[in-house]
Amino acid sequence: MKNIKIQAPATVANLSCGFDILGLCLDKPFDEVEVDKINQKKVLIELVESKYSNIPTDPRKNTGGLPAIQIIEDFKLDFGFKIKIKKGIPLCGGMGSSAATASGVVFAINKILNETLTDKEMLKYALIGESVSVTNPHADNIAPCLFGGLTIIRDTKTLDIININIPDLYVCLIHPDISVSTQDARDMLPNKIKLTSAVKQWGNIAGLVTGFANGDFELIKRSMQDEIIEPVRAPLISGFYDVKNKSMDLGALGCGISGSGPTIFAICENKITAKKIMDFSKNFYRNCGIDCDVYISKVNHSGPNILK
Ligand code: HSE
Repeated sequence: MKNIKIQAPATVANLSCGFDILGLCLDKPFDEVEVDKINQKKVLIELVESKYSNIPTDPRKNTGGLPAIQIIEDFKLDFGFKIKIKKGIPLCGGMGSSAATASGVVFAINKILNETLTDKEMLKYALIGESVSVTNPHADNIAPCLFGGLTIIRDTKTLDIININIPDLYVCLIHPDISVSTQDARDMLPNKIKLTSAVKQWGNIAGLVTGFANGDFELIKRSMQDEIIEPVRAPLISGFYDVKNKSMDLGALGCGISGSGPTIFAICENKITAKKIMDFSKNFYRNCGIDCDVYISKVNHSGPNILK
């Protein structure tokens, strides 16, 4: 295979109580990544014009470029790659945009290499890509993006990832035009937490994963609570509690901050509920004078979609 074009999907990290350890794959929005095998032993990045195409073309500064360089070096390849990226996932929105590019490139290159990489190697190289945009990168976006569904990052260091089969749910993503720096959103978190809060959080994580695995919607609803991170980060997102409270009133199973924000996610049993939340949120932010993009997506169970 000399050429492949794929869609690399957005992901929701954390899912409220699962800070840094849970991630969910969606169908949209997505980046389009096309990789060509080229005779020269180098990596070329080409960007297709889009609303979010303001990313580096220097391969070492691009989340897709760096893993490609590393793969060429590690596997002593005598050829290189031309990588064409069309960004469809907003940058710095909390929807795993940098991870989608990194994972998409690694996934595509692996196909060109006749699936030479193991799952763990794919994670390793995608994480190298993530390191371009954040210090101490986490696998809670790259793992769901690569493998689909709900992933548990049991351990980032050893890349011990567990994939959970979950029901066909809908997710409404509400992305208000508010600037939240991922680094600031991490730096503001407490270094120490109360044991009572930790115990509550552990109970919720266990309940949430069990609820997803068993398709127990009431258990998901009871468990999708964040005792620790959300109360600290919520003030960064104007209108967060208005959207959250209304989403729950409208029938969401859970609502919280997607990754480090400012995107808000609401998980729903059906598209009708997701659409009601979308309509409310659009109106709400319009009335606040804040631009807002909204997406409704199904859970993606398989990861990147091969276009050709
Ligand atoms: N889990 C990270 C955070 C974002 O909430 O800061 C994605 O890695």
